[in-house]
Amino acid sequence: MQVNPAAIESTQTRVRQLADLPGPKGLPILGNALQIQKQLLHQKLEQWSREFGPYYRVKIGRRKLLIISDHQAVSKVLRDRPEGFSRTAKLGETWAEMRLQTGLFGANGEVWKKQRRMVMAAFDPAHVKAYFPAMCKVADRLESRWKKSLGSEIDLQADLMRYTVDTITGLAFGQDVNTLESGDDIIQTHLDKIFPAVFKRNLAVIKYWRYIRLPSDRALDRSIAEVNLAIDRFVLQARARMTEYPELRIQPSNLLEAMINAADQGGSGLNDNDVAGNVLTMLLAGEDTTANSLAWLLSLLWTNPAVLQQLQHEIRGKFSPETPYSTEELNGLDYLDACINESMRLKPVAPMVPLQALKETLVGDVLIPEGTIIFSLLRRDSVDDAFIPNAAEFSPERWLVQGETGQSINSVKRISMPFGAGPRICPGRYLALLEMKIAMVMLLTRFDIDNISTPDGKPASEYLAFTMAPLGLKMRLKLRN
Ligand code: HEM
Repeated sequence: MQVNPAAIESTQTRVRQLADLPGPKGLPILGNALQIQKQLLHQKLEQWSREFGPYYRVKIGRRKLLIISDHQAVSKVLRDRPEGFSRTAKLGETWAEMRLQTGLFGANGEVWKKQRRMVMAAFDPAHVKAYFPAMCKVADRLESRWKKSLGSEIDLQADLMRYTVDTITGLAFGQDVNTLESGDDIIQTHLDKIFPAVFKRNLAVIKYWRYIRLPSDRALDRSIAEVNLAIDRFVLQARARMTEYPELRIQPSNLLEAMINAADQGGSGLNDNDVAGNVLTMLLAGEDTTANSLAWLLSLLWTNPAVLQQLQHEIRGKFSPETPYSTEELNGLDYLDACINESMRLKPVAPMVPLQALKETLVGDVLIPEGTIIFSLLRRDSVDDAFIPNAAEFSPERWLVQGETGQSINSVKRISMPFGAGPRICPGRYLALLEMKIAMVMLLTRFDIDNISTPDGKPASEYLAFTMAPLGLKMRLKLRN
């Protein structure tokens, strides 16, 4: 494979090879594997980036990885998809080996192109508007749950997970799922085994389960079989509903119906396996991400009382507990938008995107061979004073348009990419933001936050398990005065 010579000439500096790059010293065979704790992988890679610079190499077993943190280079590789870079082949293999149907997140090439069209159709703004009543119903249930917990400690992350699980599972399965009021949902308990296993197996250096099957691996197989069966059933039920009520072809009431609709369009090249793969993908991609983003937002608001007060002022000025939620009003909450953007800058729940080069290519001044795996770090520059003034401060004002040119907001927008960038940018971002806004309006119009705490009284620690979660947050609420 030839690299464009003009691309090499146009760089000012000497072209480097992967082997020329600095990087942490490792052990023979294992490389740097023992220096990395999976749950803190993102922090270790960010720390090494401060030590070794924006391009460095890491070796995990036999795999040599390129780590990049320069936001311009990150943005360029994310935009150079699907031609230049794909998701890692390993993710696809892990997914297939676990007998999960291929969905958008792990798909590559032609399959990705076709599925992306189907998923984007399901996130069409007019469709999302039709999902809105179901989303508000889940927010009402969270309100009731929290009213029952007044004065006692709420496990914040667990409750927010119930909220996002009920919202996304309801939309993706086409069934009302109610873990907020009825306790654990049986399918969700299976999913709770499957998703962490995808993360663990994808990062594993030794694939022991190919040789020895532990009781946990057998339980995982059973959970996967159950979930696959249930999803097939949901697809059949949705098809039957759509035959009975043909208007659902024009105005689908959930993500599942919208995806079936898009798959049934002539020439889509998709079938019910693609739909099933994406039901699972929606759950994988849409539950922890939104719940953890909300949890981080609340913990940052609590430690920045002036910001919390201003946000209360904005929300309470527009909504009373009796005001019905409406997308128009929610979209007019500029300060809430700014708070969400700012908390995702400091606490992006997907702090890195692993990619694989599809051809020999230049990344910055580094020439990498086809097949090289790159970890693009999304947060490194967003929290550096060299790029963003007082970067460690939680300051939503930096997201509000300043001056005629809007220069300040434009520069922070270019650097902070919590939803990724380019053709594979998160398709669920508007739904996630809407879900977060509904929850914040519900919380701040009905309640006063009495306390948000961690077990050791320090800021919540970051814990990476597929997404980056805050550890141990508890919240206490009072009814609003
Ligand atoms: C605050 C919440 C969320 C965050 C921070 C987030 C973040 C991300 C990121 C960083 C990516 C990778 C983008 C890239 O490769 O450039 C991604 C991809 C994706 N997200 Fe989200 N996400 C969120 C919520 C959701 C929701 C609610 C859904 C669906 C219900 C969703 C569905 C997806 C899918 C399907 C992909 C794969 C897209 C593709 O590869 O073409 N996400 N998300």
